[in-house]
Amino acid sequence: MAVAAACGTSPQPGSDRDGAVQREQNSRMSGPDQYGVVGHPVAHSFSPFIHAMFARQTGQSMNYRLFDFMPEEFDQRIVSFFAEGGRGLNVTLPYKMAAVSRAHELTTRAQHAGAVNTLAMRKDGTILGDNTDGVGLTQDLCVNRHVSVARRRVLMIGAGGAARGVLAPLLALGPETIVIANRTADRAKALAAAFAQLGNVQGVGFRYIAGGSFDLVINATSASLTGEIPDVPVGVIGPDTFCYDMAYGKGDTPFVRWSVELGCRAAAPGWGMLVEQAAESFRLWRGVRPLTGPVLAALTAS
Ligand code: ATR
Repeated sequence: MAVAAACGTSPQPGSDRDGAVQREQNSRMSGPDQYGVVGHPVAHSFSPFIHAMFARQTGQSMNYRLFDFMPEEFDQRIVSFFAEGGRGLNVTLPYKMAAVSRAHELTTRAQHAGAVNTLAMRKDGTILGDNTDGVGLTQDLCVNRHVSVARRRVLMIGAGGAARGVLAPLLALGPETIVIANRTADRAKALAAAFAQLGNVQGVGFRYIAGGSFDLVINATSASLTGEIPDVPVGVIGPDTFCYDMAYGKGDTPFVRWSVELGCRAAAPGWGMLVEQAAESFRLWRGVRPLTGPVLAALTAS
């Protein structure tokens, strides 16, 4: 499908090994194939719920558990998980960068992100490191919400790991420009320089955002977690602006509420990105992409 392909859901580097990654019979563990998410803390994660729904929906025999590893045991526990027959792991904060060195090979998108959110055991016993966050975002924007990125002006607020993780897939959609604005301007400039060969991207401090309102404004800061709004000029949001908060929570996030109050066209929290990145991990592991709509509806129902 044209839209899905344009949005980056066509096979990614590394996923041509899907045949090797999916449903290998587990030689050392009996019963369902073993998966999980590793983080610290991780008890709050929605991933077990999401992957359990995916597994039921697609008839896959698998278990998906939470693994709260302490930093000093992270490397060894990952090695043990796979040595004992584990098939794949999602990786969340604070280990996405540390997981890079647990992979024998990285997909191109994981290399660009400098971070791994998915580890997959391959047929030959090596571990592939992937990053599905970016395609999770572009899938939610383009397919679920019908937001165009091609030839549009995009403002990315934030220059940390969350922003870095999604820049390459966003630039692949051909925006006119991506302005990265960060509270600490130097971080924005450095991030823009790192992605300059992939498209028109520039980095600025909040006070130097120019050019009026943007077509798409993405909040990739961690400000929502503390109930704060990034201190960007209100003029970046106009009546045609679509606003997206990569954060999510019960009800609207502060950034979503703020954008709506400013009269944006529409605003969304990051539930769809969460479910879509999970679906892409599931596809890498099992060779089938589950439907995300029912899972998204279940997560946002209450
Ligand atoms: P993550 O991996 O979640 O991106 P990070 O690498 O620590 O975490 O980056 C957090 C981002 O949120 C940074 O861009 C940070 O801005 P600074 O680089 O200036 O610290 C941004 N951020 C956090 N709290 C913020 C706030 N209250 N207002 C604006 N930006 C904020």
